[in-house]
Amino acid sequence: MEKLKRAVKEIAYAQDQAKLPKFHSSLIPFLSFASSIYGAVLTLRHSLYRSGFFSKHRLPVPVISVGNLTWGGNGKTPMVEFIAKSLADYGISPLILTRGYAGGDEAKMLQRHLLGGPVKVGVGANRAAIANMFFVKYGYLDCRGSKLSERTNLDQKVESQINSEKIGAVIMDDGMQHWSLCRDLEIVMINGLMPWGNGHLLPLGPLREPLKALKRAHIAVVHNADLVLREKLKDIELVIREIKDSLPIFYTKMDPSYFFDVSNINTKMHLEAVNDAVVLCVSAIGSANAFVQGMGKLGPFYVHRFDFTDHHSFQNKDIQMIRERLGELEDNFSSKPIVVVTEKDYDRDPEILKHLHPFQVLVLCSEMQIIPHKGSNEDQFKLLLKELLELEV
Ligand SMILES: *[C@@H]1O[C@H](CO)[C@@H](O)[C@H](O)[C@H]1NC(C)=O
Ligand SMILES: *[C@@H]1O[C@H](CO)[C@@H](O)[C@H](O)[C@H]1NC(C)=O
Repeated sequence: MEKLKRAVKEIAYAQDQAKLPKFHSSLIPFLSFASSIYGAVLTLRHSLYRSGFFSKHRLPVPVISVGNLTWGGNGKTPMVEFIAKSLADYGISPLILTRGYAGGDEAKMLQRHLLGGPVKVGVGANRAAIANMFFVKYGYLDCRGSKLSERTNLDQKVESQINSEKIGAVIMDDGMQHWSLCRDLEIVMINGLMPWGNGHLLPLGPLREPLKALKRAHIAVVHNADLVLREKLKDIELVIREIKDSLPIFYTKMDPSYFFDVSNINTKMHLEAVNDAVVLCVSAIGSANAFVQGMGKLGPFYVHRFDFTDHHSFQNKDIQMIRERLGELEDNFSSKPIVVVTEKDYDRDPEILKHLHPFQVLVLCSEMQIIPHKGSNEDQFKLLLKELLELEV
């Protein structure tokens, strides 16, 4: 199964299909057929929503959707967190709606980062129902200009500053294909390292929707832009411009901020902890390349990697394999290697990584940053958010 999954992914991101191994080529006809079925279902579903056959649910506060066109590693969850913090800075209390895939690793990370602040996190597949539950519990407040003037009572606006418990906006993690909820702002995340693979729909290619879906977006974000060559970024921009010329494009990157040890999650460790060390990066995430490259920049002596497929949850036999690799590294370098994992890997199963003892296991914590580029910087992004949502704050 693991082998099949890997082959499908390799096909999706292959530069040249003719150069693929035989096993891969034999899969292509099946994948092609499946892709065309997938495309047909997608078109049907979309037109049923457009024609009003499926009803769309409208929430009483502005809704921001952060989505992706391809699988994994495009910075969706960090972006959700970034927006939540930006809204909180404006005095708005946002509710994040997330589906909670694979044991809810993304949700746990959000909850840990946002603990104690005004941001709330709702987990579950039926996003409208979850949202309504939170509205009942905390109340809501619409801070949009048009809605405020309708009320003609300016006291309401004053109240909005004070009563920050009330939910003022909803942010949908992975909302792009979730059409049953109306949204006011659509942000599409693109992984700069692997933007659209071979350009085909799932499962032959990595696309969940045809590229022309970018037309629906209000903001495009190219993530991991710090790891991509300038030329490549230009190509990505060109593809976006061809589909929607007016689309504002921002560049983002993950900025490592600190480590914590799996055996003691309350101590923050400086990034220098891996200086001159032999490091084994273990991950089961969509964009392991970015993780490994980022680790390389922190000044370790040597970086070795052990990749699993996205969302894979580590089993005892995996721990055994990792241990063997660590033993090899220790022999080769005569120094005890340090294991580094991402927060997502940690959150999927915080206990199992402790079984690597006596090897030290560190969790890398990172924050998203907007890379200033042609006047598109963090302030611009926040301003655009406010403008597009017509927030009066
Ligand atoms: C992106 O899309 C895939 C489906 O192709 C989905 O499983 C995943 O959760 C989405 N988000 C991320 C961050 O990968
Ligand atoms: C350790 O060294 C051996 C011999 O040079 C090599 O075959 C092996 O791949 C190395 N292992 C690691 C994890 O670097």
